[in-house]
Amino acid sequence: MARKTTIRNDDEEPDEPKRPTLGGDNAGAGNFEDPNQQRFDDELRPSKLEDVVGQIAVVERLKILLEATKKRKEPLGHLLLDGPPGLGKTTLATVIPRELGTELQITAGPSLGAPKDLLPYLTNASYGSVLLIDEIHRLPPTVEEFLYPAMEDFRIDITLGDGLNARTINMKLQPFTLIGATTRSGMLTAPLRDRFVNREHLDFYTTSELSTIITRNSNKLRTEIAPEAAHEIAIRSRGTPRKANNWLRWTRDFADARANGKITLEVARAALKMKGVDDAGLEEQDRRYLETIISVFSGGPAGVQAVGHTLNIPADTLEDEVEPFLLREGFIQRTPRGRMVTAKALAHLGVSQKSKSKTTKSNSDPPADQRELF
Ligand SMILES: Nc1ncnc2c1ncn2[C@@H]1O[C@H](COP(=O)(O)OP(=O)(O)OP(=O)(O)O)[C@@H](O)[C@H]1O
Ligand SMILES: [Mg+2]
Repeated sequence: MARKTTIRNDDEEPDEPKRPTLGGDNAGAGNFEDPNQQRFDDELRPSKLEDVVGQIAVVERLKILLEATKKRKEPLGHLLLDGPPGLGKTTLATVIPRELGTELQITAGPSLGAPKDLLPYLTNASYGSVLLIDEIHRLPPTVEEFLYPAMEDFRIDITLGDGLNARTINMKLQPFTLIGATTRSGMLTAPLRDRFVNREHLDFYTTSELSTIITRNSNKLRTEIAPEAAHEIAIRSRGTPRKANNWLRWTRDFADARANGKITLEVARAALKMKGVDDAGLEEQDRRYLETIISVFSGGPAGVQAVGHTLNIPADTLEDEVEPFLLREGFIQRTPRGRMVTAKALAHLGVSQKSKSKTTKSNSDPPADQRELF
């Protein structure tokens, strides 16, 4: 099979309103929505599986799948990639067809408002090619149902006409591989999830993995970086390669503007300080989130909807982009009654237990609508 990768991007406007995000430096924000972020991502995206840093177990399993697929000369089974934003779902989805030497088409859940939007992708899919549907949890139910026979039997059912005159015609498709990428696998319906024979979850990266990514990418960007500066950026990158890349770009700009272009430890620290990133990698919005739970909700429990209303940030943005890192680092806890800040968060923000319990006393029970059961 020819080694040709065709990247089809959507030029249609999504039917659903775009999900508001927290701003330019954000790690997440389903990057198809932000052309600048998408360009930055594409520039630094590894192009081969061997260039993918970290996710060792996932990469090992993918290597086995790819080898077996190549040996059998059959299409790869459908693959679901899930995990928080900026961890490499799109990266892996673009590397796989390159490794297989097949074509790749890319679309996203919010762009597929009706089955007719999906039709061109399915009919264009060649034997063994890959179709990536980003944010697959945002597919409307009609499109999802249209996808079922395409995934299972490589067939689509098209209904022509209305009422008594309606008839359904079946159309055969070339066997292809669907890669679904999602930050919310829990929102996928069971029938859709079950049609993915392979499922992989991406987790946060270690500091040393992020250091490696930063050092490699500074080479790509032709910027000199001291190893301790790469380590410093890595510590503050919330376990997320996209964040690490964005901070690398920023420190590089800072080094060019304020220093001699070399990213030293001092330059990295000054650059990140200017962006409000503290030594635990927390940014302004993380601190506001924690401070809101402490001051408005007496440290919690607080429902994410209520916190979102107070901060004027959509709850799903908080759930996708702010909370995963805070949870993982032990700054918050998710309890059946809502989010609670931990002693670690109080210590980090310099809030004493005493001053928190004082607030608790004066405001001990948040109103019912400020709690959330889940
Ligand atoms: N394993 C990795 N090794 C090296 N770089 C990586 C890796 N994973 C991600 N990156 C870098 O991080 C950037 C963002 O990754 P990617 O776009 O794949 O994230 P994503 O999981 O698709 O995020 P989203 O949920 O927002 O779509 C990539 O452009 C790439 O440069
Ligand atoms: Mg992506």
